This record gives sequence, C-alpha cells and structure tokens, in this order.
Amino acid sequence: MRRPVIAANWKMHKSSEEAEAFLRIFVPLWTDRRVEVVICPSFVSLERVAQAAGEIGLAVGAQDVYWEAQGAFTGEVSADMLVRAGCSYVIVGHSERRKIFNELDTDVGKKAQATLIHGLSPVICVGETMDERKAGLTGEVVERQLRQAVRSVERVEASRLVIAYEPVWAIGTGVTATPADAALVAREIRSLLDRLLGPGAGEEVRVQYGGSVKASNIAGFMESLEVDGALVGGASLDPAQFADLVNNSLSLREKE
Ligand code: 13P
Repeated sequence: MRRPVIAANWKMHKSSEEAEAFLRIFVPLWTDRRVEVVICPSFVSLERVAQAAGEIGLAVGAQDVYWEAQGAFTGEVSADMLVRAGCSYVIVGHSERRKIFNELDTDVGKKAQATLIHGLSPVICVGETMDERKAGLTGEVVERQLRQAVRSVERVEASRLVIAYEPVWAIGTGVTATPADAALVAREIRSLLDRLLGPGAGEEVRVQYGGSVKASNIAGFMESLEVDGALVGGASLDPAQFADLVNNSLSLREKE
C-alpha cells in the first residue's frame, strides 16, 4: 500500500518566525497520522522548520533545487545543501517556475535526477494550461513533461517518486478538476511510468492532485485509490485549515 502524502507548498509566504508559529498550532491539531505531511517553506526557513519537524514526524521539502553540486551559480541551492538543511523532498517543475522563470522540461529532468542522487524524493509537477485542455492536449502535455522529468530515473527509484498532477488553470483559482478527471490522469501517469521505467513502476509511485484543494474538497479527490494525496498552496497557509484538510482527507475512503 502507498502511504498517502499531502504537501504544503507555501510558495513565497511566511518568515521563519511565522513558520514556527504555524507548527505550534498545526501539530496538536493533526490527528490522522496515516497521512504523511510534508511542509515546503522558503529556503531560508528550511533549517528551522526541519529542526522542529523531525521530533513530531513531519517531513520537510524545498520548493526548488539546482542540479549542479556547487560553483558559480548565484542565487541557486544544491541538493546536498537541502539534505544538510533537513529536507527529504523537493518540489520540481512547478508551473510557476516553468512559466515565470522559464524552466524547461529538460531542466526539470536534471533537477529530478540531482534530487534522487542525493537521496531526496522529487515531487514532480505536471499539468496542462486551460488552452491546452480546451484543445484536448492534456494527455499529450502530461506525457511530454513526464517523459523528460524521468529521463534519468532508474526503475529502482520509482518508489521514491511523487508526481503532482496540477492543472495550471486550477492553481489559485478556486476552480478544480473533477475527482474523476484527477483519478483518470493519475491512472494515465501510472501507465506511462510503466512504459518509461518498467512494468510495475506506476503502482509504486505516489500521485497527488493539486489545484485549489481545500478541507472541503480533499476527500473527494482522495476517495479514488488512484490519488495518493495532494499538493496544496493557499489552503496550507492557515494551520487550522490545513489540519482539517489533512484530517478529512481519508474520510470518504473509510466509508467503503
Ligand atoms: P493552490 O492550492 O493555491 O491552488 O495552489 C496549488 C499549488 O500550486 C500547489 O503547488
């Protein structure tokens, strides 16, 4: 069985002090420990969040990484630095990085590779824009992005991958994909990974849905066993709201 995983992508929000204040409120409210929770703060808060998180069973992730080990790359952070700061996950290929910072599919592949080499798990983001969706290109776009992202991934590394299906049009808009669409794309991602990495790889990978996930809609997405969790932006910033989201996430599975 794959352990469900919900990640908080705080984007460019919260100072270290605010991050600590979040944890003080969130931790006692987080009751469903079947779900793995990953907090992804800004680079400058990683170490402080990791120090607090280790003792309470929270995992910590970075929002980006650079693939080189070290050198003259002003402003960049290496995978080794992230390991030493206490990370176990790294978000790679978020649509905001692709769009605002011109990240290419091939960059995402190099980042995923650097992440895995250092023992970290990449959370690889894929997803189509509204124009691509309207043109019926969802499958094609996800396939192109994923193909490059896992180009250097070995079959044995499959169980360490997290793939976040985040339709760009659903991010921060209050509009979500339907649970059925999310489950369908998750299934397509698994069958593509079987083809790219080898038979059985898709079953080992955890696939998240992302895009306007909230406490009130998470259970619908995770009712399907295809959807192993969520990548959450806005609704992860408030500790009580995020605790509700995590604690509600498996409520519809339990009814079956
Ligand atoms: P929202 O949850 O704010 O829509 O953001 C989703 C996202 O981009 C997570 O990475």
